[in-house]
Amino acid sequence: MPKVILIQGSLNPDSNTAKLIAATAKQLEQRNVKHEIIDLRNLELQFCDSRPLKEYNHDTKTVHQKLADAQGFIFGMPVYCYSVSGPLKNFIDIHSSAMEKKWAGIVGQAGGKSSYMALGDLARILAFESHVTTVQPHVYTTYDDYNGDAMTSDKTQAKIEEMLDNLIACLHAVKEENA
Ligand SMILES: Cc1cc2nc3c(=O)[nH]c(=O)nc-3n(C[C@H](O)[C@H](O)[C@H](O)COP(=O)(O)O)c2cc1C
Repeated sequence: MPKVILIQGSLNPDSNTAKLIAATAKQLEQRNVKHEIIDLRNLELQFCDSRPLKEYNHDTKTVHQKLADAQGFIFGMPVYCYSVSGPLKNFIDIHSSAMEKKWAGIVGQAGGKSSYMALGDLARILAFESHVTTVQPHVYTTYDDYNGDAMTSDKTQAKIEEMLDNLIACLHAVKEENA
């Protein structure tokens, strides 16, 4: 069974992206898909400065190995200025080689409805930097989709399911091809 890593890319202590990632992880749990959340808020983050991996700290090296061992990813992206947030882009810059030629889904949270195309920036970055292919649909939420500590939109739940159907189908197809 393939393993999926969920990357929670917001540093906000009350992050909606984290709630969206939690909702996605719950669906993976229900499908018995092996998964793990890497929440950027829990890491001692460093800037990418082109140094070799061995010169980064323990958190960075540990995360890199987890990404290398996984087959698929789900990126939780907070929308900043119609694009990817700085910390998430920095994370991808450091770890791009660990994700080479794998598959990913994207879930993203924004303040308003008009920044939907921002998620396409992340797909393009992953394609160029890691040859990662992203599946559709990209799951996009705004403040209206949350109530307190949870993501509460049925429409979003359905989108997450559709995204996971496609991601898991791709992961199984790759596994069969490599068998
Ligand atoms: C620097 C910055 C830039 C932002 N730019 C946008 C934007 O372009 N479009 C938008 O809809 N929301 C924008 N927002 C709002 C965030 O997407 C929103 O607060 C979202 O909930 C952030 O995710 P989080 O709750 O996980 O931190 C911006 C927020 C910040 C802090």
